[in-house]
Amino acid sequence: MDLLSKGPGFAHLYADASLPEFSTDQFNALPPHVWPMNAHRDDDGQVAIAGVRLVDLANKYGTPLMVVDEDDFRARCRAMADAFDGPGHVHYASKAFLTVGIARWVASEGLCLDVASDGELDVALRAGFPPERITVHGNNKLDSTLTKAVQAGVGHIVIDSRQEVDRLGKIARDAGVRQEVLIRVTPGVHADTHEFIATSHEDQKFGLSLACGAAKDAVLAAMDYDSLAVAGLHCHVGSQVFDADGFSLAAERLLGLMADLHHQLGRYGSDGGVEKKDVKDSLDILDLGGGYGIAYSASDSPLDVRSVADDLKARVHKAAHDLHFDPPTLMVEPGRAIAGPSTVTVYTVGTIKDVPTDERSTRRYLAVDGGMSDNIRPALYNAHYDGRVINRLMHGNPIPTRLVGSHCESGDILVEDGIYPDDIEVGDRIALAGTGAYCFSMSSRYNMFCRPAVVAVRDGHERVMVRRETIDDLLALDEDC
Ligand code: LLP
Repeated sequence: MDLLSKGPGFAHLYADASLPEFSTDQFNALPPHVWPMNAHRDDDGQVAIAGVRLVDLANKYGTPLMVVDEDDFRARCRAMADAFDGPGHVHYASKAFLTVGIARWVASEGLCLDVASDGELDVALRAGFPPERITVHGNNKLDSTLTKAVQAGVGHIVIDSRQEVDRLGKIARDAGVRQEVLIRVTPGVHADTHEFIATSHEDQKFGLSLACGAAKDAVLAAMDYDSLAVAGLHCHVGSQVFDADGFSLAAERLLGLMADLHHQLGRYGSDGGVEKKDVKDSLDILDLGGGYGIAYSASDSPLDVRSVADDLKARVHKAAHDLHFDPPTLMVEPGRAIAGPSTVTVYTVGTIKDVPTDERSTRRYLAVDGGMSDNIRPALYNAHYDGRVINRLMHGNPIPTRLVGSHCESGDILVEDGIYPDDIEVGDRIALAGTGAYCFSMSSRYNMFCRPAVVAVRDGHERVMVRRETIDDLLALDEDC
């Protein structure tokens, strides 16, 4: 059991403070499957990433501070590309963490990019990301976004509704372009994850239902447009998924739809297999989205992407073979599994309180100088994080501890039921690991907090990717009237 960040209510088991099996050495360790691959604690207790001490960065850039291990991020791009037969089959989901610099890392690793809004598309284009390697998502895309995407020459647009078929068909026709599209299908698979991030069961806003025929209707409608070419089908079962069966079940259902469409289009030849000669709508991409779960606490095991990929490829090959057509090109869109483990957020401890929980026990509250504005995930999804002191070694006794932020909400909690040593002091620096995905990208200005700086480290050097927001930045939009 992971004593540093556990599920809600766990600390009550330890109300009498007889905490089992906790050693402070455990707290001083940096679990390698949770922390960035180049994180290391020196003998004096200082933690460095890629040879750069976090305390030096905190002193220079202030806290909260996000520090990205560039080589970790790049290595995960490569591992995904290896697992899925080449970088062209992997679309980094930029919603997880996007800056101009990150878009350029992804481009230089040869991966493709998934954008899901006008803003993400703009950042990608301004970063000089090759448009033909961009896929555009969104359940309610603006006409202006579709026009920009078509005119920029993006590789694929993922159609998410029947109306979008007509809107995009006309926009592409007016632009004199034949736009390649994928149709997003809802295969009715309920991913085993938090309800807010499960996205392919029925009765939610994404995609077109397979069961009721809406997906097939949309494909056929798109095929009627000369300005659209249906390159394949897409689905995304959810995020932070550990049960890989959902991916293959979704894949098999989408392959069934592909076979059905090939039938309807009369593509099955006399030898029983599908024959496609110079067809406009090739229907030969199967994009299975992202969702690969990562370890947030020491007791979590990350999904083994290589074995999931091998299994998926085998099952797709078999299902396609059974349905008598060539296996489609498999594509994936991982976000969290590339960005998540690369980054830590460094905070400074400001206030320490021992708060009674009942007549017999207390809990220590450590308040740090950020919180739900830079990491909304614990409040939104009850997410757990691995927090460690990074400026010295701890020697104290374990006590129930809650790591909280500085916002005006009691739900502003970063680690709800931690067991931390009792010698953490005001001014100590605590870093949370695994904050690369959906933290900066979901950050807010709540309480007029300025968003943290993002600094990349590599080979003993740092580079500021995003400078810290200032009050002038916040006021720049305020018309002062
Ligand atoms: N493709 C599509 C169509 C998606 O909607 C998503 C995530 C991804 C790929 C990437 O999924 P990933 O590999 O990162 O799991 N804010 C939530 C996660 C929302 C995910 C939304 N879509 C969180 O903090 O957990």
